[in-house]
Amino acid sequence: MKKHSKDKSYRVLGLESSCDDTAASVVQITNFSDNEKIEILSSIVLNQNSLHEEFKGVVPEIAARAHSERVDICTKEALKNAATPLKKIDLICVTSGPGLIGGLLSGVMFAKGLAKGLNIPIVGVNHLAAHCFSVKMIHKLDCPYLTLLASGGHCQFLIVKGVDKFYRLGGTIDDAPGECFDKIASFLGIGYPGGPIIEKRSKIGNKERFNFPKPMYDNTFNMSFSGLKTAVKRETEKLINKQGGLYQKDIDDICASFQKTVIEIFKLKTKNAIKFFNEKCQAPKNLAVVGGVAANKKIKAELEHIAIENSFNFLTVPAKYCTDNAAMIAFLGYEKYISSNFNSIDLTVKPRWPLDKVSKPIIGFGKRGAKA
Ligand code: KG4
Ligand code: ZN
Repeated sequence: MKKHSKDKSYRVLGLESSCDDTAASVVQITNFSDNEKIEILSSIVLNQNSLHEEFKGVVPEIAARAHSERVDICTKEALKNAATPLKKIDLICVTSGPGLIGGLLSGVMFAKGLAKGLNIPIVGVNHLAAHCFSVKMIHKLDCPYLTLLASGGHCQFLIVKGVDKFYRLGGTIDDAPGECFDKIASFLGIGYPGGPIIEKRSKIGNKERFNFPKPMYDNTFNMSFSGLKTAVKRETEKLINKQGGLYQKDIDDICASFQKTVIEIFKLKTKNAIKFFNEKCQAPKNLAVVGGVAANKKIKAELEHIAIENSFNFLTVPAKYCTDNAAMIAFLGYEKYISSNFNSIDLTVKPRWPLDKVSKPIIGFGKRGAKA
C-alpha cells in the first residue's frame, strides 16, 4: 500500500451517502512545503427527491436501496468528469457517520471494496465535520474558527479546533432549520426541498405581514425551531379556514415572514457566539457559515453583516458545496489522512457520531432526524 507523505500530489475520491443524496467527487490536492493547492475536479450529486416526495420525508429503506443502486454510477460519472481513471486514485474517503445506517453501509461497503481492490487507504469521515471543514476547501483558514452549521438535520454553533476536535457552544433543542423550511414548504404545498423555494418566494413576499414567535430568543447559544414551525402551520390553517384556501400572495408573505424570523434568531445567536469566541479564544476572528441552509443568500448576507460589525471575517462556500456533496468528504478525509488520523479496512459506520465528545448532549436533541 502507498505510504502517506505530505509533499505529494493526491487524487482523492470522496463518497457521500448518509441521507438522501448519493454523491461522488474527485479532488486533487497538491501539497509542497505546506503550500496546499486544492482542485475540485468533479462533484456529482444524485438527489433522491422524486423517490421520497410522496412520503413528505426521507424513507430510510428507499434511500438505502437507491444509494446501493447509484453509488457505482455516481462514482463512474465523477471519475469521467475528472478525466481520472480509477487506478490514478490515491485515497478513498467515505462518510461513515452520522446518518441513516442503510445509506452509510451502502457507501462504506462500496468504498471498502474499491480500497481493497486498488490497495489504497480508506478514511471514514464525519459528515458534520466535513461541512465544518468545507470552508477550508475554498479559503485559506487556520483553526480555531467559529462556525454555524445549519442544515436539514442539524444546527450547531461550534469552535472548530482540528480535524477531530470540536467544541460545541450550543444548538437546536428540537428541529433543524432546514427541516422547518422543508416541512413548511410541504404544508404550503410548494415543493421539496423547501429551502430554495421559500427563499425565492420570500423575495416577493411581505416579511412584516405575520409576526411569528422567536422561541429561546435569549443570550444562550441554544435554539428552538419547532414552535416557530407550528406557529406558521396554525397561521396557515387560520387563513385557509377564513378564506377557503391560500392566495399566492399569502404564501409569499408566509415565506417572507418565516424566513425573516429565522434570520432574526440566527443574528442574535451569532452575536452571542461571537461574544463567547472573543472572550475565550485568542485566535483570528473568523466566522464560517456552512451546511444546506447557508445556501440561502439572504441568511448569508445578514450574517455577514453581523460578522463585519464585530470585526470578524465572514467565510462560506458556494451553494453547491453548502448542501451535501462529496468534495467536502474527500477534502476532510485527506486532511485526516495527512494528520495520520485514518482508518483501515475494518472501518465501521457510526449512525450517531457527535462532533463534541465532551459537552453534554443538548436537551431534547437527538430525539429525531436522520443525522442526529
Ligand atoms: O446540508 P444539507 O444538504 O443536508 C443535511 O446535511 O441535512 O442540507 C439540506 C437542507 C434542506 O433542509 C434544505 O431545505 C436546506 O438545506 N436548504 C436551504 C436552502 N437550500 C437548501 N434552506 C434555506 N435556504 C436555501 N436556499
Ligand atoms: Zn449535510
